[in-house]
Amino acid sequence: MSSISMSEYAQRRQQLMERMTPNSIAIVPAAAVSTRNSSVEYPYRQHSDFFYLSGFAEPEAVLVLIPKREHGEYVVFCRERNPERELWDGLRAGQEGVIANYLADDAFPISDIDDILPGLLEGRERVYYSIGNNPEFDQHMMDWLNSIRSKARMGAQPPKEFVMLDPLLHDARLHKSPAEIATMQRAADISCRAHIRAMQASQPGLYEYHLEAELDYEFRKGGARLAAYSSIVASGSNACILHYTENNAPLHDGDLVLIDAGCEIDCYASDITRTFPVNGRFSPEQKAIYEIVLKANLEAMHYISPKHCWNDAHDATVRVITAGLLELGLLQGELDELIASDAYRPFYMHRAGHWLGLDVHDVGDYKVNGEWRALKPGMTMTVEPGIYIAVDNLTVPQQWRGIGVRIEDDVVVTADGCQVLTRAVPKSIDEIEALMAAAQSSGV
Ligand code: GLY
Ligand code: MN
Ligand code: MN
Repeated sequence: MSSISMSEYAQRRQQLMERMTPNSIAIVPAAAVSTRNSSVEYPYRQHSDFFYLSGFAEPEAVLVLIPKREHGEYVVFCRERNPERELWDGLRAGQEGVIANYLADDAFPISDIDDILPGLLEGRERVYYSIGNNPEFDQHMMDWLNSIRSKARMGAQPPKEFVMLDPLLHDARLHKSPAEIATMQRAADISCRAHIRAMQASQPGLYEYHLEAELDYEFRKGGARLAAYSSIVASGSNACILHYTENNAPLHDGDLVLIDAGCEIDCYASDITRTFPVNGRFSPEQKAIYEIVLKANLEAMHYISPKHCWNDAHDATVRVITAGLLELGLLQGELDELIASDAYRPFYMHRAGHWLGLDVHDVGDYKVNGEWRALKPGMTMTVEPGIYIAVDNLTVPQQWRGIGVRIEDDVVVTADGCQVLTRAVPKSIDEIEALMAAAQSSGV
């Protein structure tokens, strides 16, 4: 069961139904099961929209909301209880369980959906459904629609409009409740411990996957079943490959290692990056680049509050990074002109962050009516500036090439600023070197 209360899920459904137009219906399918090979499946992860509205983690389910329906507004189709299948694959809630434990008003076997759903769709003015997420389900929707059309001469009325559910639902998902933030803090705390453990374990001669194993150990020990995304453990110039996930290179003395990893708890993500020296001591060049990225990370935090818009933090990181590269002589020119001409882009080619929540790159619009969105308490995002100097960047002296640094934290907007959920993992050079030296001397 999810750590978010069933009454909170009920409030979310209520809030959504209040925003739906009269005589409408919303339909949200569970995530499809994916095959890994022959009879082996990928670990099942519920679709975030479905989970947001239900807290129900089983596959082969469909959630239906029909405001003001006499026989119940919240209808769930799910697998039937089946002692033999449950013996092999695990327990199922069944229709009774979904009503008793997940507060559904009405529940039907998923195997009956072709007979029942067309009747629920028939005569509705509007259907809220996010087309394009699940092609197989899209096809079912068309089949149900056609089955109503085929009965038109008998008086059946197909729905008049299909509307994407995303704007209503994703706007709600963008604003996190205290219970959601508490869950995200739990995920962040486990991930902080994982990063600390990886720093403590690092030494030349190991491989990137040894550090990945330390991360996985803390994730599982903390109760997280899955990482929120594939962990990146990138040593040396691998750090300049933004989504490097091979994690199989040796850790060389004198190199940095960039780890971008976070677990999920109850489907809520954490997303942390730290960069540290394999041997525990930064070289002068590594230190110089690191200090710029750290300054950008800290500066961005001053631009995350209800007084600011989404893009302010990004702009702050661009200014700090461009000024820093200019000071080191890695860029030449005048600061404002370098910013205006995007001269920093070969070194800093991504945004300073993204919304964070049930999805690691969470839903919610970044612009509203063409303007960057104003931040509001409860919005949760990452702050992740970086500098990456490609090995083949011949515009800079050789000693700088192959250095990649990113520092990423998870942040929630508060009434008067922001709170960093990932503060438990060190990020200053002194703290990192001290932590790694203590681990080396104690033989951790
Ligand atoms: N780990 C994915 C990201 O940082 O956006
Ligand atoms: Mn991120
Ligand atoms: Mn990340």
